Amino acid sequence: MDINILNKIAVEMVADSKGILAIDESHGTCKKRFDALNIDVTEENRRSYRDMLISANSLSDYISGAILFDETIRQKTSEGSTFPDYLDKVGIIPGIKVDAGAKPFSSHPNEKITEGLDNLTERMKEYSSLGAKFAKWRAVITIGENIPSSACMLANSHALARYASICQEINIVPIVEPEVLMDGSHNINKCFEVTNTMQSILFETLDKLDINFSGIILKPNMITPGASCVEKSSPEEIAELTVKCLGNNVPKEVPGIAFLSGGQSDEDASNNLSNINKINNNPWKVTFSYGRALQLEAMKKWGGNNQNIIEAQKIISKRAYMNSLAASGKYDLSMESK
Ligand code: 13P
Repeated sequence: MDINILNKIAVEMVADSKGILAIDESHGTCKKRFDALNIDVTEENRRSYRDMLISANSLSDYISGAILFDETIRQKTSEGSTFPDYLDKVGIIPGIKVDAGAKPFSSHPNEKITEGLDNLTERMKEYSSLGAKFAKWRAVITIGENIPSSACMLANSHALARYASICQEINIVPIVEPEVLMDGSHNINKCFEVTNTMQSILFETLDKLDINFSGIILKPNMITPGASCVEKSSPEEIAELTVKCLGNNVPKEVPGIAFLSGGQSDEDASNNLSNINKINNNPWKVTFSYGRALQLEAMKKWGGNNQNIIEAQKIISKRAYMNSLAASGKYDLSMESK
């Protein structure tokens, strides 16, 4: 492990006014999104869709890194480079999702444990040789009746720490993603309580497993009410509780925090991030690592038809720009219509 290499990559991943594009959907998730839009689920469609996104005009002005999927890191863009080579050339750092998905957690109904540690060292070495400079592993925590259990939070934190240790050993920056899902009718205080506990267990476990905090990026959920909660919360309240939770748990050595969008609307994801960045005494960089909130409108416009590429690229470029403004606290909802 060379902490100078790790820290340099991590700092570049959260460079001023830039964030990370997540295009690492598993085949299952990609099929769900394509099916909803009647797009044929083929390897070529997955390739050309992701090629369309990463070759959008000026993307690298707003995007520092892109998280690829196992299939994509081996594919070529239309101009004939591998995805990592193309990304490198345009100044976007290539990364790779390495977990094998969230599976039912033994003896704990309705809870999930993320798998994928078997042979991870060998897989990581291959991804490194294919050009990956950072990786991602997502743990899923569900809020419901009597869940999450401490066991679920501990087991997932342990897996995240083992993954992070394997990444750091070969100078790949781990994105550590403990996602507390928005699903449910719980209020914002419940989300705070669960996320705060999860982050506390996570950082204690990372520390116990000797993870170097200056060579990781945290990818958390924001503190929001559940998707079906009737009590709405203002962006200011979301920002205040999110920063409070991070302040309670995230060591100041961590170079950056890059939120997931988690099912928030495009505008909410930008507006909430901007409000978080208006609270300007944070010790870490605070930005985005969005999947849905960057891509979904562009996917609808593309619709499986390459004649729509230019129009779809305008949409991804606009969302990347809006979130880039939000990453410096300069986004305003009124900008959407301009
Ligand atoms: P969303 O922004 O759609 O939540 O996806 C981000 C991600 O990478 C989830 O692992």
